[in-house]
Amino acid sequence: MRKPFIAGNWKMNKTPAEAREMVENLKELVTDVEGVDMAVCPPAVDLDAVQEVLADSEISRGAQNMHWESSGAFTGEISAAMLQELGVEYVILGHSERREIFKETDQEVNRKVQKALKENLKPIICVGETLEERENGKTREKVSFQVKAALAGVDSSPLTDVTIAYEPLWAIGTGESASAGDAAETIAAIREVIAEIAPGKEEEIRVQYGGSVKPHNIAEFMAEDQIDGALVGGASLEAESFAGVIKKCQKEEQNH
Ligand code: PGA
Repeated sequence: MRKPFIAGNWKMNKTPAEAREMVENLKELVTDVEGVDMAVCPPAVDLDAVQEVLADSEISRGAQNMHWESSGAFTGEISAAMLQELGVEYVILGHSERREIFKETDQEVNRKVQKALKENLKPIICVGETLEERENGKTREKVSFQVKAALAGVDSSPLTDVTIAYEPLWAIGTGESASAGDAAETIAAIREVIAEIAPGKEEEIRVQYGGSVKPHNIAEFMAEDQIDGALVGGASLEAESFAGVIKKCQKEEQNH
């Protein structure tokens, strides 16, 4: 059984002081949560403050990006070792905003995935189609291509540390989420791709849905066997709403 995993992508929001306050509140709200892996992914400059508050908690930390080289002349970039020293466990790679705004390529995402795994960071690899691709029936083709490209050359054994986040671009920050059934169908296609690359791993790798996930709609996604949790943007910025999403993932809640 795959354990549900909820990660909060704060994007470029919150100063270190604001981050500290948020996670202090969040920590209180989720003390009783069981059976769900939780992570917050703040901006890199907040990681130190967040680590101080969450060091002894069940809430893991993730970064939003990293470079594929260990060190050197890469102004503005952050290495895996730097993240590790701040207690980071996960790293979001290939988010659509990185791909679209910062022109990150599939090859770069692949290099980052390989580096992250080598340095024992767990990648959360984002894939998803644009509205145009969806309307042209290209969803499956697009996400299959992105998954294959991101995992090219990766050994099968560390693949269990990989999470895939299926995030249709048209659902991100729009308030318009994919239907749970549609998301599950695309995620099933992602598992088929994983089965081709690494037979057997398709049942082990967690695949999240992302795109306008809120406390009021997470249960619909969690009701689908294919969906193992969510990558949450807007609703992860406030402790109450993020805790709301997390709590609705607990198995006993799902049965209600
Ligand atoms: P959203 O963002 O929940 O605000 O739609 C999701 C994401 O970009 O990871």
